[in-house]
Formats: sequence, C-alpha cells, structure tokens
Amino acid sequence: LDNGLARTPQLGWDTWNSFGCSLNATVILETAQKITSLGFKDLGYNYVVMDDCWSAGRNSSGYLVPNSQKFPNGIKDLADKIHNMGLKIGIYSSAGTMTCARYAGSLGYEEKDASLWASWGIDYLKYDNCYNQGEEGTPKLSYDRYDAMGKALNSTGRPILYSLCNWGVDGPWNFAPTIGNSWRMSGDLFNTWDRQDVNCPCAELEGLNCKTPGYHCSVLNVLGKAVYIPSKAYAGAWNDLDMLQVGNGGLTDDEAIAHFSLWAALKSPLLMTNVMTKIDAPTLSILQNTAVLAVSQDPEGSSAVRVWRYNVDGGDIQMFSGSLSGGDQVVLLLNGGSTAREMNATLTEIFWMDGVSGTASQVQSSWDVYDLWADRMSNSTADAIIQGDGKRPINMTAMGGAEKVYAQT
Ligand code: GLA
Repeated sequence: LDNGLARTPQLGWDTWNSFGCSLNATVILETAQKITSLGFKDLGYNYVVMDDCWSAGRNSSGYLVPNSQKFPNGIKDLADKIHNMGLKIGIYSSAGTMTCARYAGSLGYEEKDASLWASWGIDYLKYDNCYNQGEEGTPKLSYDRYDAMGKALNSTGRPILYSLCNWGVDGPWNFAPTIGNSWRMSGDLFNTWDRQDVNCPCAELEGLNCKTPGYHCSVLNVLGKAVYIPSKAYAGAWNDLDMLQVGNGGLTDDEAIAHFSLWAALKSPLLMTNVMTKIDAPTLSILQNTAVLAVSQDPEGSSAVRVWRYNVDGGDIQMFSGSLSGGDQVVLLLNGGSTAREMNATLTEIFWMDGVSGTASQVQSSWDVYDLWADRMSNSTADAIIQGDGKRPINMTAMGGAEKVYAQT
C-alpha cells in the first residue's frame, strides 16, 4: 500500500504469543520501557502492538470500549505514554463479527472503529479474519471486508499501518498489496522448528493452507509456503510470515538464529513476542544482530528467493539468495537437518535468481564475503575473498564461524 508506511518491513513487539488474553496496560508499558532501555528502539523496533482481548464490547452508541480492568486509564492514556517514549502503538480487531478470542469484531463497524482508534492515537492495526460470516473462500468477499477497513483507516487522515491477518486464506498476496502494508500468508507460527502436526496442513503446497486459527505451523511449515511468493512483496506491501518466536523457549539458539535470518531475508515484518522483562543473553543478541536487521531493512526491499533445496542424509538443506542495495547480495545456507554439515554454493547458483542466471560481472567478479552472524560487518577486513569463476565453490567453512551458525538445528 502506498501510504508512506512500512517502506521497509515493520519492526516491533506484539502481546499475543507470550501474554495472550492476559495483556494489560502495565505489561505493555513495562515492555515498552524495556524496548527502550535495552536498545531495541534505537535499532528500529518501534511498534508496540496490543493483540486480541483488549476490549469489553461496544457501548450503546456502537463504539468499542476498552476493558477497564486491563486498561484502567483507557487506551488514549496508554497511547500517549507509548508516544512519549518515542514508540508507536498498535491495536487489533477482526474483519468478522468477533475476534478470534470471541471479543467484538469490526465487520460493519469499520468507520466507527477506525475513527475511535485514530482519536486514541493508534498507529497500527492488525486485522484478523475470524468469524467472517462464511465469506472466507471467496477472494472478492475477503477483498471487500479488508478494503472496507483500509478505506476507513485512510479516511481518518491519521497514518495507520494496516497489517492484514488472514492466514493466507484466499491468496491475500494477490489482493492485499493495494489495500494493506502486509498480509499473513500462513496459519499461526507455533513455537517449534518442525512439528509434524496433523492439525496443521501447512504443507509445502499452495492450497493447503492452515485455515482455522489455532492450527499451528512450524518454522519450516511457514517457510515451505513463503518460498512460493517472494515476488509478491515490495516496499509498503510485505508477506507476513507471522510473529517471531525467538526467546519463547521452543527453539534452540541455532534454530532461532535460522528463523530470524530467514524472516529478515524474506522481508517479513519482524514482531518480537518474548517476555522482555525476562530476556536472556542469546535472545538479546539474536534480536539485536544489526547486520541481519540491515538485511531486513535494506532500502531495495527485495525478498530473497530459494535457489535450491535438497534432501541429503535425511536432512533438508536449502540455499537462499537475495539482492540488496548497492550491488550487495545476501546468501543464506539453511541446514534443516539434525547433524552439522559443510555446505557450499557457487556464484552461479547464488545469482541464479528466479530461474535467471546472473550477469557476467556478478558471476565472475571477486566478492568480499561477510559472515553476518560472526558480526564482522564492523570489521573492514573481509573474511574471505572469493575469486568467482562461476564454478569454484564458495566454501563457507573457510570463512570461520559460518558452519557454527548455519549448520546445526
Ligand atoms: C489469530 C491470529 C493470531 C492472534 C490470535 C488472537 O489466531 O492469527 O496472530 O492474533 O488470532 O486471538
């Protein structure tokens, strides 16, 4: 959506994965303080989003009312405090009669709700798909429901980032880019690397969507779907691979590194969901990797593509490559298996983008190679110089540290 917002994927924090319906103003303010004091704000994580369960229904005039126990001073007061910290505030509703946790939905109340949120100073809306009156399954009707809220937000005159949360249903990447800033492309990301969950048909095939909220996808499930739609994302309009599970206890540090790197390279919004008051050192250093954040926020805004995927020795290995501004390139080697291994990629492969081979200067030049997880971007000495001839493999182990980062899950 060309509304000036999310020109790079939005960064922030959301209440849902850690707090669910136990959110309240205290939790949100404590988190916002940590986001500031721990340095997240300075790195660009600026949206603090309250998810489902904030309301207590509608008043007699049809306006939503905040839950007074959770928000004793109301939401405008909370928004003012968040703004005073130099952060922005998000809210949640559903394009249906109820939200997913069965609170009042916004279908038919789009203008009232948008104008109320704008009057409170809301900067971001996450708009879900629950209780949609059976309209899911018909792209035109889904478009209309989401477009109605987009128009209502626009007519408030307040810049409000519009994040569609319709779980990939009805192919939002085909209709959402003109009405929203991002759209969920899968079922909910559960706190697991590769759970084979019979309730989650998030297989690596179009059409096998997780259609019902509560159906949980693993990191590899979501990735396996996201690889089919990188070209749908561009500045102001992003594929949302769902909120980060980094620091929530279900992933090893190496899995969290892979999850964060993939979400950054694929240009997903990066919304943290960990308990900030209990953050540990690995979580902090993963979420604050400035080099990976620079990939996410690269001004060119092009999503990396998967160049190859092999199943070797029972392990799933994949290579992603993506163009960055200034002629740079991000390369991501993913070892989805359970044993460490050496992985190689040639320059020919790295520049084989969307089935098109790279230019001679890309494939035959020397490249300075930086290991973004060794945090060597600040070090002007290149870790390795690859004399690319299009055939010679780039041996990641020669770079030092890379195998530690990429090779284990
Ligand atoms: C759906 C969404 C989640 C979360 C919950 C809230 O499952 O996909 O991200 O917002 O609803 O009920």
